[in-house]
Amino acid sequence: MLTLAAVAENPLALTRHLELADGPDVVFRPLTHADAERLAAFFEGQSTASRRLSTFGGYDLAFARELCDAIARHDKLRLVLEEVPSGRIVGLLEISLGLHPSDIARYREADVYLGATDCRFGPTLADDYQGKGVGTQVFPLVVDVARRFGKKRMILWGGVLADNPRAIRYYEKHGFQTVGSFTDADGARALDMILDLRPPQGR
Ligand SMILES: CC(C)(COP(=O)(O)OP(=O)(O)OC[C@H]1O[C@@H](n2cnc3c(N)ncnc32)[C@H](O)[C@@H]1OP(=O)(O)O)[C@@H](O)C(=O)NCCC(=O)NCCS
Repeated sequence: MLTLAAVAENPLALTRHLELADGPDVVFRPLTHADAERLAAFFEGQSTASRRLSTFGGYDLAFARELCDAIARHDKLRLVLEEVPSGRIVGLLEISLGLHPSDIARYREADVYLGATDCRFGPTLADDYQGKGVGTQVFPLVVDVARRFGKKRMILWGGVLADNPRAIRYYEKHGFQTVGSFTDADGARALDMILDLRPPQGR
């Protein structure tokens, strides 16, 4: 089974080249310590609308450095999409290998019992990469990574806003099922969704 330390030591193990149906090729790879400035440019480029749909703790170099410093130190695996040949970061796919107690409590209300083989997922694409099927092309790679970490189910990291129809459609088309809804810290309605990563015969 993969570990965060092993990925940090050998990012190439998870690196894949993707030919996009619509646009330049991209490389899917783990975030590395050398990415801080490119990641900051990605955050800075996110529109107000995107920042509301996928909210981060900051949108500047200091926050990007925080994420790079966190590599292999906690329970998060961050993967990026890097445009070829520009080197621009155009997507951030986050997997949290650990769960938050509030997630566990919310899902329990719906009789879903989360544990060590569950993970959280949060995708964010650059504005000009949204709505072109890129998220769909990259999703099987994310699932493969989660499985290699021994994960059997995936929930949404922070849920999905009920007024984010594109993301909801995106999750549903990849097999996520709605478990319930809740009100987030900003008073907005959000949905909890879960995906079984095991092949049907392994459930
Ligand atoms: C959510 C996100 C990762 C999805 O990736 P993407 O590449 O844009 O998604 P795709 O184009 O692969 O798929 C989107 C699907 O939603 C559909 N869709 C687009 N707009 C829609 C709308 N307003 N209502 C319903 N469906 C919509 C598309 O037609 C497509 O479905 P299809 O393949 O059956 O035609 C990306 O849009 C993104 O980063 N959005 C901003 C941040 C965000 O919302 N992150 C999720 C936080 S929970």
